Amino acid sequence: MSLHDLYRHLWAALEPGELAEIDDVPAPRGPDWIFGLTDEIGLKTSARVLDLGCGPGDQARALADRYRARVVAIDPVVEQLHHARAAAGSRPVLVMAGTMESIPAAAASIDLIWLRDALMHSNDPGSTFRECSRVLRPGGHLLLHTAYATARLAAHELELLEADMSVSRASLDVARVDAEISAAGLEIVRREVLGSELAEHYELADGLGGRALVRLARLERHPELLLDRLGPEGFRAARGLYHWVVFELMGKLSYRTSLLHKPG
Ligand SMILES: C[S@@+](CC[C@H](N)C(=O)[O-])C[C@H]1O[C@@H](n2cnc3c(N)ncnc32)[C@H](O)[C@@H]1O
Repeated sequence: MSLHDLYRHLWAALEPGELAEIDDVPAPRGPDWIFGLTDEIGLKTSARVLDLGCGPGDQARALADRYRARVVAIDPVVEQLHHARAAAGSRPVLVMAGTMESIPAAAASIDLIWLRDALMHSNDPGSTFRECSRVLRPGGHLLLHTAYATARLAAHELELLEADMSVSRASLDVARVDAEISAAGLEIVRREVLGSELAEHYELADGLGGRALVRLARLERHPELLLDRLGPEGFRAARGLYHWVVFELMGKLSYRTSLLHKPG
């Protein structure tokens, strides 16, 4: 790049309104798009749905409402289970402690597994998919929405995510995960690369990406403020999350949403 060419283009690239064709590309898909994949399955009323890594339970609640399903919601973190029980209210949602590597459910008892944004925490994706295959009934489905590391993610950035976000490199490795899916006897019937779309969606909706980036900058300048406020573990969790969001927007992490099938 010559200096002449650089400065002919440089400032315009940041001007608002200058690159409308980039700023106005079709709006990124939001999280509700994911339900479109499972809508196509045609679940029967009272189907049994397993929400693995349910977190605060908003997904389990949505699954119960959308599909009139009986939902089992599993998470290993006690606080998340409390939130999930509160979120479920009087819906048919059973919230239980458990892990995706050792699922507390009977063989062939589940019609749909919902594994959204939790696989990255599994140190053993082989056990996770074997367990999923065990509890799915023949003909059942698994919705997997998860992020993978791309070639742009540097080794030290992966180490930071492992340390601060408790993620596992095995589960961020798309080739490894695909191999475990097929070793467990599951088939990928549909796959969509969302990349950074959800992060773009949240940025446009409420400025999440910009907030993460600015907080990361503040954290560098004034780490003591966040340390005092959150303590050492909270500080690392926040640092990990801000990096995660920024890496997603930079294409260092890329989300894929897949519909898997257990042959009948
Ligand atoms: C980012 S949250 C996602 C919550 C929810 N699935 C969603 O999409 O909003 C990840 C959740 O996975 C849970 N998790 C971590 N390790 C797990 C494991 N081995 N088995 C099941 N859940 C796990 C965490 O406790 C956390 O609640």
